[in-house]
Parts: sequence; C-alpha cells; structure tokens
Amino acid sequence: MTDATPALDLFEALHSTPARRYLKPDPIPDEVLWSILDAAIRGPSGGNAQGWGWIVVTDPEVKRQVAEWYREGWQRAYGSRRDEIMSGGAAGQALGVRNFLSAEHLAQHLEEAPVWVIPVLRGVAKSTSIRAGSSIYGAVQQLMLAARAYGIGATLTSLYLGHEDDVKALLGIPDDAATMALIPLGYPSQGRWAQPKRHPVEEVTHWGRWGETRAREA
Ligand SMILES: Cc1cc2nc3c(=O)[nH]c(=O)nc-3n(C[C@H](O)[C@H](O)[C@H](O)COP(=O)(O)O)c2cc1C
Repeated sequence: MTDATPALDLFEALHSTPARRYLKPDPIPDEVLWSILDAAIRGPSGGNAQGWGWIVVTDPEVKRQVAEWYREGWQRAYGSRRDEIMSGGAAGQALGVRNFLSAEHLAQHLEEAPVWVIPVLRGVAKSTSIRAGSSIYGAVQQLMLAARAYGIGATLTSLYLGHEDDVKALLGIPDDAATMALIPLGYPSQGRWAQPKRHPVEEVTHWGRWGETRAREA
C-alpha cells in the first residue's frame, strides 16, 4: 500500500465488480499495474506455495495472435449459436442476451485492451485434480478487485484454451505450468459498476447439510 493507493469500501467493491468487456485502449500506468499485481499476489495458495507467475502482455503482435485463437474458441462455444442465443433459446439462458453481446464485443476487440494479465500456475499442466485452480483463483479475484479500485475493468476469460500449447510456446511458459486465465484490463468505455446478478443467497446457502435452506432474517 502507498499513499496513492485508492480507497474503495471492501463491500462496495464486492458488490459492484461485474465482468467489464467494453474497454478503452488508453494505457494503464506501470505503477498502477505494479499496485494491482502486488495486491493479487497477497492471495492464498496451498501451503503458501505461490507456484505462480503473472505475465503482463502488451505486445500488439502477441495480442493479435492470441486474440485470433480466442476468437476460434468464441466461435465454437458461442458465436456459432448466435441466432439461438439472441432469440432467448436454451443456449443463452444463463448468460443472457446482454452478456452475450458484451462477450461478443470482447471477442471482437480483445487485442484493443491495453494490458492483459495471464496468471500461470506451475506443476499443474498434467493435473487431473479438480482443485488445482484453487491455488491461484483467489489471487486472480484479488487482481480484479484491485483493478476495480483504480476504475479499471477486467474479465476472467478462458476461450483461448483450445490453443493452450500454442500460447505456452509463444510466451515461453514452462512445460509443467498451465495458463489459468487471460484477463484483459482497461478503463471501461461503457457499462456500469453494477451489482452482478446472481441466484439469491438464500437459495444457494445450505445450513449444516445440503438441502437445508433458510429464509434470511431482515
Ligand atoms: C472459469 C471462467 C471462464 C470464463 N471465460 C470467459 C471467457 O472466455 N470470455 C468471457 O467473456 N467471459 C468469461 N468468463 C466470465 C463470465 O462469463 C462471467 O464471470 C459471468 O458471466 C458473470 O458475469 P458478471 O459478473 O458480469 O455477472 C469466465 C468466467 C469464469 C469464472
């Protein structure tokens, strides 16, 4: 923390950090990036192993190449079902039309985000553990909340993953490591720091054992 670190109430941040996919190309100062990354690496990892590395990508040629790979994934997962999603069909029920359009925008403009951060975790390239990611995703969320404090938008993305080996080769990532996400960062060009929509907390909270839900007392 420095005197220049922005102040934002923790609960306000927790309730107002949606995925921000409309981003300006304006650069992010290095000292702000350092501050965001220094907040991220305060996150938890099993045994405090910190088997991570955080790749900051700004090279236009690298971004152009990876964005192309991302768009392949986008097309396969969502783009090819655009009509169905836009007409409210099952494919888009969870995502919703507005989120689909923002995700489509990001897919089309990914390389314009001024900075990407790619969190990398060592030793998990061949892991079959369903919990492998737990040693980095807490820190990833800290990164996105720290960015929020600076008014910088972020989205955890994964659609480049069909080209994981290509991304690793391009960025010189060690064999045993895996990329865990690609997070485009930038100052938002549209949208709001609105509360993310979720199923109600009463519906998803189980008291003591699965299925024991309760109404929330006021
Ligand atoms: C594991 C994971 C992978 C994701 N991959 C992508 C992605 O490739 N592209 C994208 O635009 N958003 C991606 N997201 C963002 C989700 O779509 C987003 O968190 C979700 O829709 C909730 O958005 P909200 O917080 O704005 O409500 C991913 C999120 C997670 C947790």
